Amino acid sequence: MTGDTAKNDGLVLAVAGLTLWVAGEKRIANLNFSVNAGERVCLLGASGCGKSLTAKSIIGTLPAGVKISGSIRVNGVEVCGQPPVMRSHAGRVATVFQDSSTALNPLMTLGKQLRLALPGASQDHLAAMLASVGLADIPRFAARYPAELSGGQRQRLCIALAMQSSSSLLIADEPTTALDVLTQQRVLDVLRHACDDQKPDRALLFITHDVAVAAQLCQHALVMENGQLVESASMVQLLQHPQHPYTQRLVHAAKRAALPCSVAV
Ligand SMILES: Nc1ncnc2c1ncn2[C@@H]1O[C@H](COP(=O)(O)OP(=O)(O)O)[C@@H](O)[C@H]1O
Ligand SMILES: [Mg+2]
Repeated sequence: MTGDTAKNDGLVLAVAGLTLWVAGEKRIANLNFSVNAGERVCLLGASGCGKSLTAKSIIGTLPAGVKISGSIRVNGVEVCGQPPVMRSHAGRVATVFQDSSTALNPLMTLGKQLRLALPGASQDHLAAMLASVGLADIPRFAARYPAELSGGQRQRLCIALAMQSSSSLLIADEPTTALDVLTQQRVLDVLRHACDDQKPDRALLFITHDVAVAAQLCQHALVMENGQLVESASMVQLLQHPQHPYTQRLVHAAKRAALPCSVAV
């Protein structure tokens, strides 16, 4: 049986026993979780707990010198330790990162970058793609450089480009962290639309330290602390009955921030 035809039982992502050492130090310890087709799952945790290393393991972009063990199956294909170029089509992952400015070439107009990224795409296709993330006025847009867009516009463009991938798994690592709250809402709407309306079987792994943001988008939550998965629950369950002491602190802090009982004067 080839990797592409391996059985996956509706699982878009299955991580088992994932363990990672960076410069000889264990940073991720025995992670086990899975994501179903059409599901939006968040990976929550404080800065430095290992979220991005987990994402990079799944995407295949770990830095040199990292030792990895365990199993990562994307659409049933084992990809643990494989960079994207070594993967079959089914094992590749669409990605969106926090820093949209580094995802685009600062010295090239957006029109030229779009033509390079999507050779052969018609003007109509490009217009529809940009409209789907709320970007309009293609001729003016195409003549601009990345620095001439706002952070939110750049991020929406990155999401639109990621959506061009036929991959059924999208990983977004802190895509809204650098944005103001209104822009954040817009990007969350775009992500929701990209999964629900554009490709309903697409699964999303949304990485954030912000439980309030995650709650707006995701149905299921995974919580990490110090390289370990400490809780896995539906978002409703997590918000109403957090089990692990770290999750309890996270949820209570988010609730206090959202609903202040008194205002300092
Ligand atoms: N390239 C690297 N070299 C050395 N240490 C790293 C490297 N990447 C990550 N780490 C360490 O691994 C831990 C987890 O990092 P990371 O996954 O980026 O955390 P998060 O995304 O949750 O903020 C941190 O302690 C970080 O300092
Ligand atoms: Mg990170």
